[in-house]
Amino acid sequence: MKTFSIAVLPGDGIGPEVIAQAVRVLEAVGERFEIRFVFETLPIGAAGIVAANEPLPPVTRDAVIQSDAVLLGAVGDPRFDTAPRNLRPETGLLALRKLLGVFANLRPVAIHPALVNASPLKPDRLHGVDLLVVRELTGGLYYGEPRGRRETRATNTLTYTAAEIERVAKVAFEAARTRRGLVTSVDKANVLEVSQLWRETVSELAGEYPDVRLEHCYVDTAAMRLVSDPASFDVVLTENMFGDILSDEAAVLVGSLGLLPSASLGPGPGLFEPVHGSAPPLAGRDVANPIGAIATAALLLRQGLHLPEAAGAIDDAIALALDSGARTQDLARPGEPSIGTREMGTRIADLILAEALEGLS
Ligand code: IPM
Ligand code: MN
Repeated sequence: MKTFSIAVLPGDGIGPEVIAQAVRVLEAVGERFEIRFVFETLPIGAAGIVAANEPLPPVTRDAVIQSDAVLLGAVGDPRFDTAPRNLRPETGLLALRKLLGVFANLRPVAIHPALVNASPLKPDRLHGVDLLVVRELTGGLYYGEPRGRRETRATNTLTYTAAEIERVAKVAFEAARTRRGLVTSVDKANVLEVSQLWRETVSELAGEYPDVRLEHCYVDTAAMRLVSDPASFDVVLTENMFGDILSDEAAVLVGSLGLLPSASLGPGPGLFEPVHGSAPPLAGRDVANPIGAIATAALLLRQGLHLPEAAGAIDDAIALALDSGARTQDLARPGEPSIGTREMGTRIADLILAEALEGLS
């Protein structure tokens, strides 16, 4: 039996609740496809600060490096909003991304037909929406030096090297090849030197991908096009901060931030986390949508462990659950009944096992 070790970092807020459902679903997949997952649960974020006085404790660092893949819930806790930077939950996540060297963050956004009405956009705008944000994840403003804060002056630095741009652009071009063959590179080249380098580097690389069409788009225009004509995008390639903002905007299209998964890839184990945050007001109430975390488990299987069939079983089960009317609170229309976090996990896990039974009969 194939065995994989998964480092599980539930983190803060709704993180533990949604990750519990993702783990359950992975267990169901293991049963169906005869794969053995060894899960090791470790602290990060506020949970790390509480357990070990650091947002990324050494025990977590050691375990993730030795794992086959990392499954993370969310970090963030209002109790630490005014703490110094080294004692903020988010600092743990940024350190983890850097430690794993996961420079390419993939955020797929596709409309599920049963949820067209959950989106704030008119249904005709949503037809054919199927895009992938490729966000650079270990450079740019988040990591630039110098940085610092004095009383009335603060500094962050935006730096990219051509090598950093090229390696993430490659991921975007390769992805476009397996999709509809369009890369939209998003920058602010009319203002920023960094964006000029970004544009030149991406254009040069495009020569190696004659089968992929490349277009450049300013970030402000891209923000507008994401809501006015979202179906016109295939792969959206962009730097760290622009990608952070645009991927939240893109999430609104599908009806809830709670639905979207992400994969962060580098040379070693991949990091897999839902796009949503820790959502403190929802924590501990069994109301959070676990589909983003469960879809993240599917990405972990596909991109991290190269198990496309097992990944497909999760995606199918999510689609079936939604088709059958299962809705968490965030997806339910006024007056429509909703189910809790655990119940949604149960339905999806049961569908995976039911498909297994079908296969045997
Ligand atoms: C995300 C989050 C993080 C980010 C925060 C929690 C540091 O918003 O994954 O999109 O900005 O990258
Ligand atoms: Mn974000």
